Amino acid sequence: MRKKIVAGNWKMNKTFDEGVQLVKEIIELYTLEVKNQVYVVLAPPFIHLYKLQPLIFGMPMLEMAGQNCSNMPNGAYTGEISASMLKSVGCDYVIIGHSERRLYFNETNDWLAKKIDIALANLMQPIYCVGETLEERNNGKLYQIIEAQLSEALFHLPEEQLRHVVIAYEPVWAIGTGLTATSAQAQEMHAFIRKIIADKYGNDLAENISILYGGSVKPDNARELFEQPDIDGGLIGGAALQARGFVDIVKAMK
Ligand code: 13P
Repeated sequence: MRKKIVAGNWKMNKTFDEGVQLVKEIIELYTLEVKNQVYVVLAPPFIHLYKLQPLIFGMPMLEMAGQNCSNMPNGAYTGEISASMLKSVGCDYVIIGHSERRLYFNETNDWLAKKIDIALANLMQPIYCVGETLEERNNGKLYQIIEAQLSEALFHLPEEQLRHVVIAYEPVWAIGTGLTATSAQAQEMHAFIRKIIADKYGNDLAENISILYGGSVKPDNARELFEQPDIDGGLIGGAALQARGFVDIVKAMK
């Protein structure tokens, strides 16, 4: 069955104290208003994870994610964080291939395939991000780009492993810009992604994989996006930095 997931990607925001405060506020609102109806995943900066984990401990549908991990298991890679380190502080998910990693850190599909493998080997669910730039959309390359992002980083996986991957469609032009894909544009791409997966792995897997939408999701546009048949939740950036707005987005999913 497809999991309904709303994930908050804090990116490089919040000092440690601000992060603790935000998680406490989210827990309070979540407990009162949406407890155990939607999976909520929080992706704070790495150094916050260890101390935030106990705050959500024992809450069955509230989980933690890393924003990235190394493609190597361990060793002399200064500044990197491994998948096993993330798992050891309680992460069940890790975001892989965010467009900001692709753009600013030159992460390629081949490189990301290794991160996917290492995340799965450490029993974490990758939240694998795909998305086209505005230029790619305008020159009609969007389907080709999304198909390459999927096939080059994921399609080496056997079926039983792909089942554990969550996909996030984040059109690059909609991230942090206030420009959201219309619900029709998002639904069209989500259906395309599901079809590509069905063609390769069959309908059963395609129907059961969660595909999240990300890109300027806000409390006032979340419901319309989440009502689309192929949208199973959201990956939220800016609006995840404030508890009231984030929990309102979670409520739009339930
Ligand atoms: P915004 O919600 O700020 O557009 O960011 C989306 C995103 O990149 C989540 O990973």
